[in-house]
Amino acid sequence: MRIVFAEPGRPKSGTIVVGVLDERKLSPTAAALDKDTGGAIKRAIAASRFTGRKDEVLGVLAPPGLALGRVLLLGLGKTQALDEAALQSLGGNIVAQLNSVGESEAAVVLDKLDGMALKPPEAAANLAYGARLRSYRFDKYRTKEKPEQKPSLKTLAVMNRDPAGARRAFAPLEKIAEGVFFTRDLVSEPANIIYPETLAAAARSLAKLGVEVEVLDERQMKKLGMGALLGVAQGSARPPRLVVMQWKGGSKSKGAQPIAFLGKGVTFDSGGISIKPADGMWDMKWDMGGAGVVIGLMRALAGRKAKVNVVGIVGLVENMPSGTAQRPGDIVTSMSGQTVEVLNTDAEGRLVLADALWYCQDRFKPKFMVDLATLTGAIIIALGGEHAGLFSNNDELAARLAEAGAAVGEKLWRMPLADAYDRMMDSDAADIKNISGGRDAGSITAAQFLQRFVNNVPWAHLDIAGTTWSKKDAATVPKGATAFGVRLLERLVAEHYEQG
Ligand code: BES
Ligand code: MN
Ligand code: ZN
Repeated sequence: MRIVFAEPGRPKSGTIVVGVLDERKLSPTAAALDKDTGGAIKRAIAASRFTGRKDEVLGVLAPPGLALGRVLLLGLGKTQALDEAALQSLGGNIVAQLNSVGESEAAVVLDKLDGMALKPPEAAANLAYGARLRSYRFDKYRTKEKPEQKPSLKTLAVMNRDPAGARRAFAPLEKIAEGVFFTRDLVSEPANIIYPETLAAAARSLAKLGVEVEVLDERQMKKLGMGALLGVAQGSARPPRLVVMQWKGGSKSKGAQPIAFLGKGVTFDSGGISIKPADGMWDMKWDMGGAGVVIGLMRALAGRKAKVNVVGIVGLVENMPSGTAQRPGDIVTSMSGQTVEVLNTDAEGRLVLADALWYCQDRFKPKFMVDLATLTGAIIIALGGEHAGLFSNNDELAARLAEAGAAVGEKLWRMPLADAYDRMMDSDAADIKNISGGRDAGSITAAQFLQRFVNNVPWAHLDIAGTTWSKKDAATVPKGATAFGVRLLERLVAEHYEQG
């Protein structure tokens, strides 16, 4: 789908989308169309249940006196409520609606409305951004689709009186959308296509945007003592990788501390010897969702040339059962020197992150670390798909994350950490065990495990097991891979960690 910005006009074909406010109050362009069609717009509204509430739509086909095929009335609700998120969801809903009716070209006219907080070019850019985000589709393996099964919308023109301003406001948003799409692609790919080496290659492709990318192989990780990560990988025919990405858009001074994002990249989680049941196991292709988000985030930040120094680290392994796989009861030594008793080989994400977190703070001394991981089924039980779990040792970082999430519609819910939970991870045989042994507080005990590998650095852990994949369409997020976290962390960086 192509998006263009233009001056308001009257398209001669396709659909024109115009706004209607609450209580059937026509926007200026809707009122002008009503006049030119001899009152067809008002008659259509009167014949329907359409009231102009936000995200309602009403199509008026073959409007009399006009050459174009359809007027789509778009409910805007109350002007005061039209913020960034509201315009993005309008844009997303327009795309879904036009694709469902088979339209191929459309123009949205955004009038200047009294009482709207956003400036017209920002409003246009945000509507376009929402439209772009919703237009995503992972269809590369559908080779037999008929044209009528494919999305129809080819061109969306967003019209307002300052198209140049809208184009400028859209430019960084388009880069974020590229990051989101990159993540969605990586997460959607099956595990025979995306495995540690190929995921590392995808990360390496960011070099063309100026990201410095290093890929550590098994030998290098062995040398560093990453026994926890390597233990997970040892059952797979696919060798593990640790990818370190650096975007240096910020201060060049020597002591400048970067900020760091880390992701769990289990490209397939069979459970290992503690094997998962067959039903639903296919979902575990997206157990690299955290890594996918970190890679897409780096792409977004580099794409818009963010003025910040960021490190992105992803630990990439495949968790498989085999003759070389680690066994329940094995004791491994992590890079931190702490020994870990692996009682359940399916609690593998924490083992991967343990070494990645340690490596990150040891090498980079970051200002903070945020990790993302599809870590526990228990977080889905607790929060479903509406919020991701937020765990942190730092109230300021936690508050900033929660605020950024609320602003972009990727909501977080803070969960507790406490000594009593930490003690549940004590092992009789080693320094720590990788499961508590019961089902109680499963997401918290997982976070406590991670915290044992964090040394006095502000740190937050996002458990995204419930939000990485969606079974239903949302305004700006089609069902499937959501890329939950890219927009949130991009916003965190933009709000708090960029210079000037
Ligand atoms: N990758 C899973 C968690 C998961 C489950 C993500 C469902 C997305 C959807 C993780 O590695 C795992 O298997 N966790 C176990 C931990 C348990 C063995 C303590 C779980 O949640 O059951
Ligand atoms: Mn697992
Ligand atoms: Zn897993």
